[in-house]
Amino acid sequence: MVSDSMSTSSASDRTPSSRKPLRYPADWIKRKAAGERISVLTAYDATMARLLAASGVDALLIGDSLGMVVQGQSSTLPVTLDEMIYHARMVRRGAPDSFIIGDLPFGSYQAGIDSGVAAGIRIMKEAGVDAVKVEGAEADTLAVIRKLSAAGAPVMGHIGLTPQSYLTIGGFRAQGRDDAQATRLKAEALALQSAGCFAMVLELVTADLAGEITASLAVPTIGIGSGAGTSGQVLVINDLLGLDDRFQARHVKRYADLGQAITKAADEYHREIHDGQFPADEHSFR
Ligand code: KIV
Repeated sequence: MVSDSMSTSSASDRTPSSRKPLRYPADWIKRKAAGERISVLTAYDATMARLLAASGVDALLIGDSLGMVVQGQSSTLPVTLDEMIYHARMVRRGAPDSFIIGDLPFGSYQAGIDSGVAAGIRIMKEAGVDAVKVEGAEADTLAVIRKLSAAGAPVMGHIGLTPQSYLTIGGFRAQGRDDAQATRLKAEALALQSAGCFAMVLELVTADLAGEITASLAVPTIGIGSGAGTSGQVLVINDLLGLDDRFQARHVKRYADLGQAITKAADEYHREIHDGQFPADEHSFR
């Protein structure tokens, strides 16, 4: 399973030459118009950002999923704007040329339009992200998107399962299964596009509906657990790398088993210390 990811070819070897890097929001829309897909992965620190930037992956997202996969919280709700900025700065250092998007965390824009706009501008100024992402399509959220876009801050939307509102949604479950939800999601997608979003995440939206929403928009949809009919895909890097084998969601494909590899390496190190094999002569100075 890991053979491709262990290849030594460079990103330029793997990226089709017709596919220009994503530099500006307009490039995302051109990609969609050209029928070319977009790959996005989350990253939370400089080392991972550097490794991912060396792959062909199109863009990096500093997701507030870091609350769960880095901080060990049970949801994204506790993540603060300061923490998002802290991680986004690391990712920017590791991937200076990549298109990176920073999540605005719970509370930073739900508390009011002005605070949302201020949060978006802060993460752009302090971390150097290329765009921010907000969840949902409430009237105030649309106002935040309009104001940020007008101010020159690109915004990615996020509908379907919006983890920041998992309590009111009633858990982490697929969205769009009944007519009322489907109608609402179609309207939300159009509203996000009208408000100025250059792209939007569709999370856990039923596959046919995600395809229908994608076809109704000029801007690309980036799916997670939303089937193959979206304009691109995003996955949490820890899931893709198999860093946590306690649970695997249906929508996740594991491309490596690094969790086991890490535990095995640490165990070998531990045994070699106890056996007196490490450090050896070549690790010592004379
Ligand atoms: O926080 C996150 O990582 C996300 C993606 C899963 C879309 O929002």
